[in-house]
Formats: sequence, C-alpha cells, structure tokens
Amino acid sequence: MTALRWAKILRSLGHRVTLREEYGGETCDLLIALHARRSQPSILRFREAGPGGALVVALTGTDLYQDIHESNEARRSLALASRLVVLTPLGVSELPMSERHKVRAIVQSAGRPARARAAPASAFRACVVGHLRAVKDPFRTAKATRLLSRTSRVVAWHFGAALDPGMGAKAQEESSQNPRYSWLGERPRQEVLESLLGSHLLVLTSFMEGGANVVSEALACGVPVISSRIPGSIGILGEDYPGYFPAGDTEALAELLGRAEEQADFYAALANACNALAPLVDPTRERESWRELLEELFGPATLVQGRGRSDHDALRKDVRHGLLATPKRLPFRWFYDEEGSRLFDEICTLPEYYLPRAEREILEAHADELAGVFPSGPTVVELGSGTAVKTRIVLEAILRRHGSAHYVPVDIAGSVLVESSRSLRSAYPSLGVTALHGDYDDALAEWSHFPGAPRLVLWLGSNIGNFEREEATDFLGKLRERLKPGDRVLVGIDLIKDRAVLEAAYNDSRGVTARFNKNMIVRMMRELGAEFDLSGFSHRAFFNEATGCIEMHLLCDRPQRVDVRALGLQVDFSAGESIHTESSHKYSREEIEALATSAGLAVEHVWTDREGLLADVVMGLG
Ligand code: AVI
Repeated sequence: MTALRWAKILRSLGHRVTLREEYGGETCDLLIALHARRSQPSILRFREAGPGGALVVALTGTDLYQDIHESNEARRSLALASRLVVLTPLGVSELPMSERHKVRAIVQSAGRPARARAAPASAFRACVVGHLRAVKDPFRTAKATRLLSRTSRVVAWHFGAALDPGMGAKAQEESSQNPRYSWLGERPRQEVLESLLGSHLLVLTSFMEGGANVVSEALACGVPVISSRIPGSIGILGEDYPGYFPAGDTEALAELLGRAEEQADFYAALANACNALAPLVDPTRERESWRELLEELFGPATLVQGRGRSDHDALRKDVRHGLLATPKRLPFRWFYDEEGSRLFDEICTLPEYYLPRAEREILEAHADELAGVFPSGPTVVELGSGTAVKTRIVLEAILRRHGSAHYVPVDIAGSVLVESSRSLRSAYPSLGVTALHGDYDDALAEWSHFPGAPRLVLWLGSNIGNFEREEATDFLGKLRERLKPGDRVLVGIDLIKDRAVLEAAYNDSRGVTARFNKNMIVRMMRELGAEFDLSGFSHRAFFNEATGCIEMHLLCDRPQRVDVRALGLQVDFSAGESIHTESSHKYSREEIEALATSAGLAVEHVWTDREGLLADVVMGLG
C-alpha cells in the first residue's frame, strides 16, 4: 500500500514511476527501496550500477525496530542510502548517530471513503486491520473481547489475510467460538475502509510497526484508535495519547475497550485527540514531504530534456538551409538564446508593444472564471513559457480555487526555463513543476508523461502568431488529438488592427526590437563563426496586409559576402536583400473561429481587453 501510494504521489509530481519487487538494473534517476533488509539485494545492485545514483531507503517496520540493530545487511543499506525515510518523526531515534543526518520523516497519509458500512446500533464495533502475522499479535483483540462483561456490546471485526494456513485455521476457530469476534479475511480495500469508517474504534495490537498505515486511515476517518504502546504509534499519536495499552497485555486491552464503550468522556477524549491529528495524515502533506525530499536530491524543479531539435546541429542545419534559400530566411526559434530571451523581456516592457499589457488585463479579469472551469487543480502545460510572469495570474487563481496544481512549462531557452521554474516553485509551495526544455514538438512527444487530467494548455502572448497560418492549424490539430474531455486550451491571439499601432509595436523608439532582430546575426557570428559585417544590416518590420502579418527582416544595406566558417559556407548578399526572420500573424474574429474549427476545436470564450487589441481564446473538445 505504501509503495502504491508513493507511486501515485510521485506521478502527481510529474515523475515516471515503475514498481518492482526487485531492482533489475533498469536505468532510473532514483531508486526508492522499501525495507532496509529485504531490499538489500536491490540496493546493492543499484549501487553497483552507478555509485552516485540517488537512493532512498524507506524503513517501514521490522527493519527499523529489529533488523538494523541485528543485521549487517540492513545496516549496510543504511550506509549506502542517499536519504532514509521513516514513517514517524520518532523513527529517527532508532538510527545510528552516523546516519541520522540522512533521515526524513514522511507520515503516511490517507483519504476518507465517501460512505460508511455502519455497525448496527446494538453493537460497539472495534475494527482490527492487519494480516495474521506474529509480529502483529493478531489474536490479542479476540482474547480481550472474551474478558468483557456479559452486557458489553463490543464486537471485533478483523480484516487481513492468513499468511500461513495455521493462523487462518486458528482465526476461523476463534470466529466460530467467540461470538464477539469475526475474522473476515482479506477483503477489498474499499470495503475495509468503509467498515473502518463505520466502526467505533480501530484496534492496533502490533509489537512492531514503522508507523501503521491503518492508524493514518483511522485518523483520516475520524475513528478513535486504541493501540499497543509502540514507538510506531507514539510517533503519530503522541506520548500522552490516552488510548495505549502495553503490547501483548490482554487485560489492559480489555479494560480500554470497556472504558471506550462505557465512559462517554473517555471515548470523547480519544476522539478529540484523533481529530486534532487529522491534518498530520492529510495527503497534501505527504505529497509536500516527497516534493521537498526530491528537491533536496535533485534541485527545485524537475527538468526534462526534450529529444527535439533545440541543439547546435539543428541551428547549423537551419542556417545552411535558410541562407541558401531564395528569399533568405531563418526560423524565429533561433532568436531565443540567453541574450535574445532577455531582449524579448525588454520588448515586453515597451509602451509600443501592447501585447503583454492587453493580455495581463484579460487574464486578471478572467482567471477566476478559467480556474472554475476545472473540477480539480489542472496540470497547466505552457507552450513557450519564457519568464512566465503573466502565467502567475492563472496559476494563482487555480491555487486559490483548488489548493494545488501542476505546472509544465515548455521552452527552448534553458536558463530562462530553469530560473522561472525555480522562482515559481519557491513562490507557490503547493505547485508541482516539471519543466520541459524543448520545443513545441517535444511537448507533443512527451505529452503522455505529463501529470494527469484535467489539463489546461496555455499558449499565450500571440506565440501562435509566429506560426504560418497552416502550421498553426496543424499544430492545434495535433494538440487536439492529445486532449481528453474536460481539457482546455487557452490561446492568446493578436487581433488585426490599425497598421500604425501594429508597426509601432515592432519598430519601437528605443530600438530594442532592432537589437532583438540583429541578435540572430550575433548568434551566428558567435556560434558558427559567421563573419557578418553587422553594421551593414538594419532592422525592418512592416505589416503585410495581404497576409495579415507583421514581417520582420534583417535588411542588407550594401553588398557583402559572408563566410560561415563552421559550415564551410560562403553566402552573398546584395544591397536590399534581406533575411526574413519572423512572421507575426494577426487574426480577425472570423479567422479565430475558422482556425479552431479546422483544428477540430470548439471556441468556448473569446476574451478581449478593453481596447480590443488581443484575444485570449478558450477552446475545448466541444
Ligand atoms: C514571441 N512573439 C509572439 C513575439 C511577436 O510579437 O511575434 C516576438 C516578437 N518579435 C518582435 N517583437 C516581439
């Protein structure tokens, strides 16, 4: 159960998880081994495969209270671990001093089932949940019920498999002879939880527990606990909890059962203490503990490397192809090295570049409505996330409404991506972040690995405009294929408007856009040893009415021959010839509808700013 629950938590934090009974040499970033002694062969194998790999050893019960004190193998596991997880804060005191710095306590969380299988009014039901193993002292409750007074209404329901046939026969015999005791065997988990919720007590009789899962379940259900006085329970319920009996002591257990049934104030004291502990087993807390632990091991946000074309070879290929073409052109993606990303941020602060301002206004007005579309905190995938400044408006609205969410920023600018992920992680502790360093195609390729539904895809800032219209439709169509019912896409689309307003936005008075454009040449000079005479090129941006698009060019003012050394290529430029570096398509409202329809998407909202400059369009599967 612990492994399954942790796998789910880790997946919700954006990781790929494989569960194995033994480690078989697979490549992985982290091995989490449950049980220091029993997992020892796996631990050794993992360490042999890669000495520096991250290894978390979770001490789940008998290993913590027995094996590490007796077995060299178990102690060796401790030494090999990068971190040790114990299930209650008290667990740390079992460990040798030399290993304590590695220990983190993660209390097991539990949920509460929607309905209860209530006990009849005539019964006071104590629930026992645990397999029939000696270490759990499985018959102690049955024995205790035999000591109760004849008028007592206490009955004990015992769930759990007989791990050896002898124990099963004994439980069956006890069941048939003791009218207060029923052994129900191994039952579906849901049924056990519903029965627990409908019980008056949970009884835990174990001699040894790392921190019993079922105690967490009882706390989540608000069911008072009676437990043997063992560190695994004291670590959760506290030293002063009133519901302990000495492990193995039948009379003391019988006495506690009798008091809980008869003395309302004693029962209320148990119930109050347990209710006060419920936050300890809240699933968000356990998730948070894992997030923190992974952050210690791997840094603040998870960074996934796309397989795509964001590498040096791709630049070489695009430059060769683009400079030999007629007319010459280069893909806009190569703007965004570190300097280009910085210049683009500066563009976003310019008075003429109205797009971020307009979009901020729209998001501030509608973020709450957007968050309300989802029944639970969505995974927000952002294409071309950049500094993610505006995204915060959306994320905050989602976190306000749903408490937690996951964010998957996708960007080709690695340093910007790392920086923005880090700052989001520290600003919003309940936000999981899995950053994908790559392009839009990488996002599609990695899609199935992003954390689960529902999903909100953000494609903001008119990034779509840098695609040719057909490419935009194609990409939205591919995105559509990956959407599930309930998912949404929010696309920021720049609207057709007055030529003067448009052209001013791409020809700012401070010349930042010109530097942004020329940075493409600077990059070729630096990364490919291209010998451009930069002073012979000027920035040109104009609105092409026929295509509804701002075209950006690098215009060659006088003839020059450029040697691109890394490519062994010489390229001639004549005066007036240009390199087309970017298209920025603008859409009418009709075109937006047509775009969505041809991609197979349904427009749900078209939100615009007060001046009608930009539209944020919400699309779904319809
Ligand atoms: C990123 N993209 C949407 C910007 C745009 O408006 O097309 C890039 C840009 N080019 C010049 N200024 C801004």
